[in-house]
Amino acid sequence: MDIRPMQPEDVPLAERLSDDAFHEAATLSRRACDPPAQRRTASRSANWITRTEGFLTTDPEGCLVAYDSEGLAGFATSARREDALWFLCTFAVRPGIQGIGIGKRLLHAAMAYGSDCPRWMLSASDDPKALRRYRLAGFDLHPQLVLHGDVDRSSLVAAPRVRDGAAADHDLLDEVDRAIRGAAHGLDHQMLSAMGTLVVDTGRKGYAYAGGSGPALLAALDEETATRLLWECLARTEGTATVAHVTGANQWAVDVGLAAGLRIGTEGFLGVRGMAPPSPYLHNGALL
Ligand SMILES: CC(C)(COP(=O)(O)OP(=O)(O)OC[C@H]1O[C@@H](n2cnc3c(N)ncnc32)[C@H](O)[C@@H]1OP(=O)(O)O)[C@@H](O)C(=O)NCCC(=O)NCCS
Repeated sequence: MDIRPMQPEDVPLAERLSDDAFHEAATLSRRACDPPAQRRTASRSANWITRTEGFLTTDPEGCLVAYDSEGLAGFATSARREDALWFLCTFAVRPGIQGIGIGKRLLHAAMAYGSDCPRWMLSASDDPKALRRYRLAGFDLHPQLVLHGDVDRSSLVAAPRVRDGAAADHDLLDEVDRAIRGAAHGLDHQMLSAMGTLVVDTGRKGYAYAGGSGPALLAALDEETATRLLWECLARTEGTATVAHVTGANQWAVDVGLAAGLRIGTEGFLGVRGMAPPSPYLHNGALL
């Protein structure tokens, strides 16, 4: 098994492999009441490729591929920000050859890239192989709630101290991220702005990216600000809303979701090392 740095020509192959691996994992972990697992749409595949090409530019040493005689066997992409935080962006092994140690080698190679970072984060699927791998690598695993459904528009609470953000607000974003997760998002804001509209608290205490179906990321210095930002995100949703990645440390988000008429479910885990689950904070699945 050859493990080497990912190259631009590997990215479309990794995208296909990841869709196969995540689709199979979602099918296997699906409960009877869940909707059928979906394949990635063409536009989500294109976004995946753009995002991964971005990581190849910013963090080439954190992006690894494994090849066997049949082609791409697996990959891991990871990034580090401000020498303070390492995070795993995505990680998959080809269905049919999972569970025999390829993932272990890839994950360890990616983690070597962050070896001197004090804080570590990853957003885990429900795949038991992934969870075993992460716990054995020293991550604390925190189950996540997801709030989902049609927003009861009559419940919406106006968020007077929230306005649209701009590039000039990036120092505020950095300040909040450093206080809450230990490192700014830096260049990741470019990718986040493709996932939602930047909204900021006029009191300089928080921000969010409001996507069409819910927040793509939300960070605040206090729960009052976080609550206002989440109401603003819900007001901006169209169709069914999803507030994902809600750890037990973020009960304020559960309260907002319930008040908006959403239903509680569970989905995935936040893995952290060297830190507690950030709060008030709703992380982004790939950019943490
Ligand atoms: C998660 C993933 C990348 C790990 O790669 P992998 O090559 O399967 O991982 P490894 O074989 O190194 O480790 C899997 C561990 O789970 C064990 N395992 C195998 N089958 C298992 C099962 N059905 N249930 C629980 N554990 C299992 C393996 O024995 C191994 O543990 P060990 O090292 O103590 O022997 C891969 O399984 C995958 O692509 N899953 C689907 C996509 C996904 O969920 N990615 C992670 C995103 S967060």
